[in-house]
Amino acid sequence: MARPLRFIFREQHITLPHFSPTRTLLEWLREDKRALGTKEGCNEGDCGACTVVLARLEGDKLVYRPVNACILLLGQVDGAELITVEDLANKDALHPVQQAMVDHHASQCGFCTPGIVMSLYAAGLSDAPPQDKTGVDGALAGNLCRCTGYRPIIDAALASREAQWSDPHAETRRKRLTALQDDLDMLSAGPEGVFAAPASLSSLHAFLATHPGAVIVGGSTDVGLWITKKLALPKAILWLGRITALKTIIQSHNRLHLGAMVSLEEARPALSAIDPDLGVLMARFAAMQVRSTGTIGGNIANGSPIGDLAPALIALEANLSLLGPEGMRAMPLEQFFVAYGKQDRAEDEIVAALDIPHLQANEHFRCFKISKRRDEDISSVMGAFRFTIDNGSIVEARIAFGGMAATPKRASATEAALTGVLLDDPHAWTEAIAHLQEDFQPISDMRASAGYRLRVARAILGKALLECAGAPASTRITPRMEADHVR
Ligand code: FAD
Ligand code: FES
Ligand code: FES
Repeated sequence: MARPLRFIFREQHITLPHFSPTRTLLEWLREDKRALGTKEGCNEGDCGACTVVLARLEGDKLVYRPVNACILLLGQVDGAELITVEDLANKDALHPVQQAMVDHHASQCGFCTPGIVMSLYAAGLSDAPPQDKTGVDGALAGNLCRCTGYRPIIDAALASREAQWSDPHAETRRKRLTALQDDLDMLSAGPEGVFAAPASLSSLHAFLATHPGAVIVGGSTDVGLWITKKLALPKAILWLGRITALKTIIQSHNRLHLGAMVSLEEARPALSAIDPDLGVLMARFAAMQVRSTGTIGGNIANGSPIGDLAPALIALEANLSLLGPEGMRAMPLEQFFVAYGKQDRAEDEIVAALDIPHLQANEHFRCFKISKRRDEDISSVMGAFRFTIDNGSIVEARIAFGGMAATPKRASATEAALTGVLLDDPHAWTEAIAHLQEDFQPISDMRASAGYRLRVARAILGKALLECAGAPASTRITPRMEADHVR
């Protein structure tokens, strides 16, 4: 049995039996509810003006996630409490974050301010509220301000912590959210199309059988842009967000298992534990709002040649599991990417999970993302490398790049040339690195020229080898968190 969309807004239970599958949360807020505090800036997830917070129960824990309402589909709010900038102040006083913004003159035109307040509100209620400028930078990487300048905003963010505030409504929210929980499928079907959120894998297969070609949605941080920027209007959308079987994170002694619907932010600690460079990569992956909704499965399934996870996970020898009506099949991740825009996935299959082996004592990993901006930017080139070292010589090299070909791709000629090379023989690596031009014929586009891509690919592979050979920390502006060469 299916039920309508249900969530909490301004202490009310909202029930919507019919809505357009492509309606965004921002459209619902501003057009239907006239809740105009939440702003529309870029409408593509970049500026943060539309940031709102979704409170959810994850197990027993109440979590507050900042999301970009402009690219979140209305149906994805199912089961959550929606909190917007209008909900923070009480009758007598502004919220401490708002008061600090006033006290520190952190707002001029004010267009960015609601989004900044909501990001700071979510950060303040997270497991690790920002304690210093670096923490605030991380919390606000997805919020642009074009007139105040960031110094007063950072001052306000830090000052707001001094009030030591928490959520006075936490217990009431917990009760309301508990009352919303069920294991029913959610479905809205009307003249504008269908939005389905099955609660089980069997319901998922049943829906795909009756709606071939339905657009599968994980976090909608890509699909949302098809709708707001390409003006696509898919008639059937299948959101995977209610299927708990796709949200598992399992750490075993030799591998990490990530379900496709694990969000990028949830996966971040487990990936960082594999190698510090993965931690740096995840901290630079988009920004908090996109990481809170974007999923591991979506980042692989989109087949993007410039996605960040695929090269790193290919270098780590990850396996991908796909689930269809006939059951599960698995493959080495690199085999999934067939050609530009073509992945080895049937229409009735979903990306179900990734299994990532832990590094062995003699395996050294490095990955480097090259982009024009440090935060909230797509890679021009992303290189990931795993070298297996025995007696000072490279016995296996796994090298994968994004941004160098039509798909994320291994550098097989370079890998072969590096095999058997001594780590302390830079002359031999330099010759091996030259094979990158056999492996890749990159293109020039707005992010980088072909020549730049090849040069930077050579440079980061050389840097990885230099570091694994025990080079001093001067290869980096920020030192690696762990001295890998002593492992
Ligand atoms: P969705 O938008 O839900 O789906 C993406 C595609 O995958 C769609 O074709 C969908 O049908 C399909 N799909 C989703 N889940 C499944 C599944 N389980 N099975 C089968 N098909 C599925 N990407 C980066 O790599 N690095 C970045 O730094 C980065 N920065 C970004 C910054 C901004 C502002 C934005 C808007 C996007 C950015 N992205 C970045 C792209 C995007 O956020 C990521 O690729 C994200 O991981 C996509 O996941 P999602 O769950 O939101 O995918
Ligand atoms: Fe810019 Fe949503 S309006 S991120
Ligand atoms: Fe104007 Fe930030 S105050 S954009």
